[in-house]
Amino acid sequence: MDSFSTLIRTASHEQHVEAETSTFMSDLLGGRLGVDAYARYTEQLWFVYEALETSAERLAADPVAGPFIRPELMRLASLERDLEHLRGTGWRASLSALPATRAYADRVRECAERWPGGYVAHHYTRYLGDLSGGQIIRDKAERTWGFAKKGDGVRFYVFEEISNPAAFKRMYRELLDAVPADDLEKQRIVAECKGAFALNTGVFRALGEEFPLSA
Ligand code: HEM
Repeated sequence: MDSFSTLIRTASHEQHVEAETSTFMSDLLGGRLGVDAYARYTEQLWFVYEALETSAERLAADPVAGPFIRPELMRLASLERDLEHLRGTGWRASLSALPATRAYADRVRECAERWPGGYVAHHYTRYLGDLSGGQIIRDKAERTWGFAKKGDGVRFYVFEEISNPAAFKRMYRELLDAVPADDLEKQRIVAECKGAFALNTGVFRALGEEFPLSA
């Protein structure tokens, strides 16, 4: 039987393609959107990571979610620096979540409070993605909008404390394989992961509506 890390990756492959090829992501990576769209997207990420990370401390001792809680992954402080750069010092006052983002953050919070396995699904979907495709987004953002390499504006994508992302991802997959859950619970976690991708796609859809290409 496949390992859990393989199972979750293959089971979510289709959803990954869908998220990756969403109109908003394609336009963003194609350099067809202004920095305003990038800033709006970064704002949405703030709500998601706020939900993921404010619960982290409480989950640190949990047998299922605990091993995944690692200070080197935490993104909220970096997101806040990026937002200050993108929106100015008053960034917090103008911050607002799209309804799709609110639904996403609410679901993360719900899992964090009631279902550690579900929290792992959300954790995997975001952090392993950030360590992978996130690097492509960073590179594109630096070139398109002129951010300093790994500097303000793209700090969210820079894991200062992870010197070897490939090794980190290997270790992360070992953590997934060691999750103390039976087969049924693993299936539930996989289903939640697909749901997490769908929530991301929902945010992209909403952003696509807010930033349609004029030409
Ligand atoms: C245009 C946007 C994206 C690109 C170019 C991209 C690209 C990639 C690439 C190249 C990998 C493989 C890395 C490897 O095997 O080590 C990967 C993995 C991953 N991506 Fe994405 N991705 C994008 C968007 C997303 C989104 C929106 C999510 C979810 C929120 C996501 C979640 C993941 C996850 C969870 C993995 C790890 C799969 C695994 O090995 O288990 N990605 N991505």
